Amino acid sequence: MSEELSAKKPWIDPYEKIWIIVGLIVLAGLTTAVTVAAFAFGIQVPTPERQVDPKIVALEGPFSEPGLRDLGGGKYEAYILGQTWTWTPKEIRVPKGSTITFYITSRDVQHGFQLWDTNLNVMVLPGQVSKVTITFDKPGEYIYSCNEYCGVGHHTMFGKLIVEE
Ligand code: CUA
Repeated sequence: MSEELSAKKPWIDPYEKIWIIVGLIVLAGLTTAVTVAAFAFGIQVPTPERQVDPKIVALEGPFSEPGLRDLGGGKYEAYILGQTWTWTPKEIRVPKGSTITFYITSRDVQHGFQLWDTNLNVMVLPGQVSKVTITFDKPGEYIYSCNEYCGVGHHTMFGKLIVEE
C-alpha cells in the first residue's frame, strides 16, 4: 500500500490546495498594489527632509533663529527647535488662509510635535528634520505639544499657533 502511494504524484489535500492558491492571489495583488502605488501614483515611504548635526543645529543654519519666515503670497516657513522642555518659538501668528511649511528638529532627545485639531503629528529626532505643509483656513488657536515622553518637564513642552481673521 505504502509503495503504491509513493509511486504516485505527491498528494495535497484539496483545502490546502485552495489556500495555497488564495495565498498566491493575495501576494500577487499586494505586489501589484505596491508597484502601482510607487510608479503610477509616486507614493513613497517618508524620508527625512534633511539631516543636521544636533550639536551645532542651534548655533548655525536656519534653526539658529527659529521662527516664522514670510515667503510672500500667504506662504510661510516655520523653523521649530525642540529641546528639553521647550519649543522655540513658543508662539506663531499668521493670517487666515496661510500655508505654513514646518521644519522641526531637536537639539537633544526625541520629542514629538503634535498640532492639535490638525493632522500634523511627527516624531522629532535629533539629527533629522521633519517637514510638513499645512494650509490654515480656520481662524483660531492651535496648541502644539510634545507627545513623546522626554523627561520630568515633558508636560510643560507646548506652544501656540494663532490663525488670525
Ligand atoms: Cu518633549 Cu516630551
